[in-house]
Amino acid sequence: MSKRIFVIFGLLVVFLAVVIPWLVFRADGDAAAGAEEVPADLRAGQSLFQTNCGTCHALYAAGTDGNFGPDLDPLLAPAGPPSGSTAQETIAAVEGRVLNAIEEGLDSDTIAGRMPGGILTGEQAEEVADFVARAAGQG
Ligand code: HEC
Repeated sequence: MSKRIFVIFGLLVVFLAVVIPWLVFRADGDAAAGAEEVPADLRAGQSLFQTNCGTCHALYAAGTDGNFGPDLDPLLAPAGPPSGSTAQETIAAVEGRVLNAIEEGLDSDTIAGRMPGGILTGEQAEEVADFVARAAGQG
């Protein structure tokens, strides 16, 4: 066999083993590629949500699609994002509900799974709750 065949074969191997996987991974992007742009003060909460909640919960604004727990968009904001004079109250109420779920967990009989309590605490729990309350209902 001539040297040239080895070279061609070598190039083929490089193409199959390196170039194709590279193209595939590049196309996938990173895990949060589907996340929405959020205001700067909600970014920490968004990122905490992706890491701590997204495996179980879908939330459009976070770009997550976990389906062990309920989809939080229709659950928390069935009528879409709040607007008008009651928006502030609505957000506060939803934030309280989310915070409660995070701190206490939830094990209602309506859903097969249960949510463990204390996944996050203190400031981190509040940041996530604030993010979820403001972002739910966009999807
Ligand atoms: C291990 C999977 C899991 C993780 C992680 C998880 N949840 Fe849940 N979550 C659930 C399940 C299951 C339910 C439904 C429980 C039920 O209704 O009995 C739920 C319910 C909820 C609810 C609905 C509460 C209500 O009042 O109806 C909210 C809000 C929520 N989760 C927010 C979060 C947030 C925020 C995080 C991240 C800090 C998170 N969850 C992490 C599984 C999870």
